[in-house]
Amino acid sequence: MATALILSISAYAQEPGDAKAGYAFAQRNCAECHAVGRGQTESQNQDAPSFESVAKTGGMTGRALVVWLETSHPTMPNFLFSEKDRNDVVAYILSLKPVPAQ
Ligand code: HEC
Repeated sequence: MATALILSISAYAQEPGDAKAGYAFAQRNCAECHAVGRGQTESQNQDAPSFESVAKTGGMTGRALVVWLETSHPTMPNFLFSEKDRNDVVAYILSLKPVPAQ
C-alpha cells in the first residue's frame, strides 16, 4: 500500500494532469455532491465542500489531493480512477486556487 502510494505520487509529479479534461470528468463524476465550477459555492451535498473551497484550503497540494483520492472515505464513494483521470481532476481542483498551482 505504501509503495503504491509512493508510486502514484511520483507519477503525479512527472505528469501533471489536464485541468480542462479534469473539469469535464468532475462534472460527470463529482458534481452530484460537490460544487465543481469556479465561483460555485453551494454543493448539492451539504457535507461535500465545493472544489473551490478545497483549492483554497491552506497548504492544499496535488499530493494531498492524490492521497485523499487514493484512500477510502465513509462519506464518499470509492472511485476507481485511471491515473490520467485522477491527475486531471487534481489539476482542475488546483487550477481553482487563487494563486496558480505549484
Ligand atoms: C456521493 C457524494 C460524493 C461524490 C460523488 C464525490 N464526493 Fe468528494 N466528498 C464528499 C463528502 C461528503 C466529502 C466530505 C468528507 C469528509 O469531510 O469526511 C467529500 C470530500 C472530498 C474531498 C476532500 C475535501 C477536503 O478539503 O478535505 C475531495 C478532494 C473530494 N471530495 C473530491 C472528490 C472528487 C474528485 C470527486 C469526483 C471524482 C468526488 N469528490 C465525488 C462526497 C462526495
